[in-house]
Amino acid sequence: MAEQILVTGGAGYIGSHVVVALHEAGYTPVIFDNFNNARRDVPVRLAQIMGTAPSVIEGDIRDSACLDQAFQEHEVGGVIHLAAHKAVGESVAKPLAYFDNNVGGFLNLLGAMERAGCKRLVFSSSATVYGEPDETPTPETAPRRAMNPYGRTKIICEEMLQDLCTADPEWAVGVLRYFNPAGAHGSALIGEDPADIPNNLMPYIAKVATGALAKISVFGNDYDTPDGTGVRDYIHVEDLAEGHVLSLAQLRQGNGHLVNLGTGRGYSVLEMIAAYQRATNRQLPYEIVARREGDVPIYCAKTEKARDLLGFEAKRGLDEMCASSWAWMQAQERGND
Ligand code: NAD
Ligand code: UD1
Repeated sequence: MAEQILVTGGAGYIGSHVVVALHEAGYTPVIFDNFNNARRDVPVRLAQIMGTAPSVIEGDIRDSACLDQAFQEHEVGGVIHLAAHKAVGESVAKPLAYFDNNVGGFLNLLGAMERAGCKRLVFSSSATVYGEPDETPTPETAPRRAMNPYGRTKIICEEMLQDLCTADPEWAVGVLRYFNPAGAHGSALIGEDPADIPNNLMPYIAKVATGALAKISVFGNDYDTPDGTGVRDYIHVEDLAEGHVLSLAQLRQGNGHLVNLGTGRGYSVLEMIAAYQRATNRQLPYEIVARREGDVPIYCAKTEKARDLLGFEAKRGLDEMCASSWAWMQAQERGND
């Protein structure tokens, strides 16, 4: 039987794409999710894409008994840990909820893995650990600086893993620092589905394109960037998902790693709006407003380490990110009719 991989947060935006990539690579993904921030119909949609229904455990990573049971019922060869809260603003308002879920839940997961003798882990980290980086493209060696409680939880988890690997070399850990995931699966069956008004740029633009929101607020045009608006390294979520498969392959050889997953190419807010306009053939209204507190001018990944250690290279470009996002949004609209 194919190796089983437990995917915490496997029903979420990135997790659902990771589940597909694992299936395509010949693994058997097992979703572990409390559906706190996931649609109930994701497993059915995954079954449509994969041609086979994924195993789903509805559980919370803060529940040790539930985790122990998952490891008893499934012979898990490795864990990909994505389950976490991820909204920066909310983390400032509710830091304890973020420490509870992102740090406490993670600690609980590590304990369950240790009890089960499963010491192979891929961890979802974020470019946010660089705070305001001195260097762009930013190398993995850049210092970690938290700008908010969410970022602090990622730094704490990375540090926990460092200590764990020092104490017990049997652990094989891949830390993946995602830049800005964007786009949706080519089938338009899974994608990002923010319930309320999105905080992030791509889902916000997408909702303006459908007419659900009136116009895009561009947060500042006086940054030290080519057109004055913020620049980010957007990476197609399917490329990102494939990075997890490459990470697992290295862990199977005992090669732990900490790498950026990005494209190495940055796009400004105005370039993103223009690209989405091309994909939709619609004019998207926007206005320049004040900077958003806590924003940095540029995030862009140095990508050589992921290429050299994992063989990772993002294959899909900006137009594909926008086109797949738009196909997903339109499929949602048709579904809602
Ligand atoms: P998401 O909210 O869509 O997915 C997270 C999933 O985890 C959801 O399905 C949610 O229901 C589940 N979950 C949360 N807490 C849980 C718990 N206690 N027990 C079980 N399940 C739980 O978010 P995403 O965008 O797919 O992000 C996945 C991971 O990637 C997170 O760790 C996030 O911090 C990280 N990340 C995301 C981004 C991004 O821009 N989306 C960027 C960098 C890093
Ligand atoms: C945000 C988080 C970061 C997290 C990342 C991925 C903040 C301060 N940072 O990063 O910690 O890892 O999401 O989840 O929230 N923009 C607009 N108008 C909008 C929305 C965004 O102009 O309505 C601009 C921003 O100023 C930025 C760019 O678009 O320049 C991208 O923003 P966003 O998608 O929120 O991602 P990040 O700021 O990179």
